[in-house]
Amino acid sequence: MNGIFYFSSTGNSLYIAQKVKEKFGGEIIYIPKYHGNGSEYEKLFIVTPIYSYGMPTFVYDLLPKLDKERPLFVIQNYGGMVGGADYLLYTYAKKHGLNIKSVFTIKMPENFTLTFSVPRFYLKSTLKKSDGNIASVLNQIELGKFKLPKKKKTKEEKYLKNKSNWHIIGERFHTNENCVKCQKCVSLCPVGNISLKDGKIVFGDKCVACLGCYHRCPKKAIVYLNKKKKSRYINPKINENDIGKDNK
Ligand SMILES: Cc1cc2nc3c(=O)[nH]c(=O)nc-3n(C[C@H](O)[C@H](O)[C@H](O)COP(=O)(O)O)c2cc1C
Repeated sequence: MNGIFYFSSTGNSLYIAQKVKEKFGGEIIYIPKYHGNGSEYEKLFIVTPIYSYGMPTFVYDLLPKLDKERPLFVIQNYGGMVGGADYLLYTYAKKHGLNIKSVFTIKMPENFTLTFSVPRFYLKSTLKKSDGNIASVLNQIELGKFKLPKKKKTKEEKYLKNKSNWHIIGERFHTNENCVKCQKCVSLCPVGNISLKDGKIVFGDKCVACLGCYHRCPKKAIVYLNKKKKSRYINPKINENDIGKDNK
């Protein structure tokens, strides 16, 4: 049985994880709720967004804990530029002795959109192309064409510096008058960084910059600094309620 581990805040990685399950079978597992080492599975897949030319905190923390024997296949997805994230993940996995077989990258709609909007036509065309790109990656894995990233100058220090500043994003969020205190943000935050205190939504200092709260607030009431940006993104091909859940 395959273990298909994913992290996702706006559904792109979940969508790809579902395609992996359709093709190869296995259990889909949401990384933040998982505490094992993957040894209960024969093959391990990790489907993850690229964050700051690297990986989300949850993926960074999971990799060193994984079983060293199990074949590991990683599919990263990104909105604009890989920037060496594939090589960084590969070398990091190798450093921890993992049996990493391949790292593929797939372009998906951008969700790091706090200060700009992706034009609708571009978003639509990226989504349209993504099915073919996902199918091509899965076919290559099926045929044993394991892709290893080309050697690049890794920017690990830069990534780690960015990662150490992600908490600032949460500190720059506030809710506006549209907030109905439904507390969806409180329950979906993967690190419990959001709470309702004295009738107000409060953002703490543990934000991991996934932007799930920002994109998934039903009233678009979460605002970054003073930006009046209206557009939010959730992958339209998944059921939003499945983000953050396992599918066994
Ligand atoms: C904090 C953060 C950093 C990001 N950094 C990058 C990046 O370095 N390069 C890139 O191309 N996309 C970057 N993105 C965009 C995501 O990788 C991309 O939209 C991904 O498909 C989102 O996956 P999800 O819907 O599963 O969360 C970033 C997104 C976030 C939230």
